[in-house]
Amino acid sequence: MESQNFNLKKLLPEEVAVVMVPLPLQGHLNQLLHFAHLIPSYGLPVHYIGSAIHNRQAKLRLHGWNSQSSAKIHFHDLPLPSYIYPLPNPDNSVHFPAQLQPVFNASVHLRQPVFQLVQQLSTKFRRVVVIHDCLMNSVVQDVKDMPNAETYIFMTTSAFTTFSYIWEGVEPKPFPLDDSDALNLIPTNDGCYTPEVLEFGNNQKKLMGFESGWLYNTSKVIDGKYIQLLEKLSANDKIKHYAVGPLNPVETKNTSEGHRHKCLEWLDKQEKGSVIFVSFGSTTSMKDEQITELAMGLERSAQKFIWVVRRADIGDVFTGSSEVKTPELPEGFEERVKNRGMVVREWAPQLEILQHSSVGGFMSHCGWNSCIESISMGVVIAAWPMHSEQPRNAVMITDELRIGILLRDWVHRDEVVSSGTIENVVTRLMASDEGEGIRKRAAEVGDAVRASVAKGGVSRLEMNSFISHITR
Ligand SMILES: *[C@@H]1O[C@H](CO)[C@@H](O)[C@H](O)[C@H]1NC(C)=O
Ligand SMILES: *[C@@H]1O[C@H](CO)[C@@H](O)[C@H](O)[C@H]1NC(C)=O
Ligand SMILES: *[C@@H]1O[C@H](CO)[C@@H](O)[C@H](O)[C@H]1NC(C)=O
Repeated sequence: MESQNFNLKKLLPEEVAVVMVPLPLQGHLNQLLHFAHLIPSYGLPVHYIGSAIHNRQAKLRLHGWNSQSSAKIHFHDLPLPSYIYPLPNPDNSVHFPAQLQPVFNASVHLRQPVFQLVQQLSTKFRRVVVIHDCLMNSVVQDVKDMPNAETYIFMTTSAFTTFSYIWEGVEPKPFPLDDSDALNLIPTNDGCYTPEVLEFGNNQKKLMGFESGWLYNTSKVIDGKYIQLLEKLSANDKIKHYAVGPLNPVETKNTSEGHRHKCLEWLDKQEKGSVIFVSFGSTTSMKDEQITELAMGLERSAQKFIWVVRRADIGDVFTGSSEVKTPELPEGFEERVKNRGMVVREWAPQLEILQHSSVGGFMSHCGWNSCIESISMGVVIAAWPMHSEQPRNAVMITDELRIGILLRDWVHRDEVVSSGTIENVVTRLMASDEGEGIRKRAAEVGDAVRASVAKGGVSRLEMNSFISHITR
């Protein structure tokens, strides 16, 4: 996206500055960092804030951009009080990563340094625009008192899922919903969150209302109906909605700058669409028993796979991670599958993997980043939601967009998913007529989503309209 081909009045560098305030957890850091990469191409300076640890983590794990575009972002390492980082417990009945709660709690202390930074910028720029994670309302709340600064909430999940949460809290319902809507299939929230993080989320929600708009990392071609419903719901609040996603680079680019991950080289040698990528994001810990069933299911499916077997993140990914137990695979497994399977134990280049033509499916926890990455690459999903809003995203994938098969039904969330179920879903997805149909649809959706961020596409237009608005 080098040339935006966009008629902005010529901006002076000191006109408008953009500040990104992510929640310091991987999935969230990554989102605003992708967004930050897009801003300089519009001629605006961009500032990305976080603690030293989290800025380092975000940069290290970013894929899809080269170092030149990263060099245009001003990173600010702000102080964060020290916090403890307990180990994950795969045996917890709720799979929400409770080990990260201290990070949530520490993040609220960014309020003072963020205020100072925005204040400083506001003396130099005509306007400061703060784009912040929907869970960072408390950190940016002081911005509302600055005459030349304004805030935009970055919604970290689909409009479908965002709407579902907001709709639940609205009484009485201002208008009816369609009976056939996939929203009616959303499962219970039980088992999705710990009470502590729910309380954190509610406290953030209570502070909403001073923002000038909402931004979504989604495209109207997949989520348009729900953006419209959200607009309808907030019609009186003068809040603007912009669906500017997907924000990751969607074209295949060789950004490896010299060294490619070995799994990409392995993929080069496989047939088109023959490999299923298996990965559950940065916050999932599985019990040993579940790992064994998954290994057996993959083995029995006789399909090719890349499986990322990692420890879940803890509060500081650079210190203490080695104490997290490494998931153990069944005896002899890697040897038995070595001709058609690859196990990756470190951070994997997910975007490049999904982009690779040999990849034909994705077994995923359905975090929104993984969903939209997969959607934009036209890859079908075996949906295995773990916690948070993931069961809702799974409904969007399987029932709304119909580009995947549900692997774990939330009703059975307390049970181990059997190797038989895994084998069945993987085979249906990768090697059946049913899978072929789903694959065809996913390819079409992927084409439409990529077109929406290309020149003249609907997401590109939304982005241009956002930039015009903030530089008005
Ligand atoms: C947007 O989604 C992409 C996947 O398409 C993800 O890689 C990226 O982190 C997200 N960016 C933002 C700003 O949400
Ligand atoms: C996080 O903060 C909440 C509310 O202040 C408190 O109840 C909880 O004990 C804290 N949890 C951790 C792990 O620090
Ligand atoms: C990507 O670049 C690397 C190093 O420059 C090179 O070895 C590799 O073959 C390239 N891959 C593709 C798919 O072009």
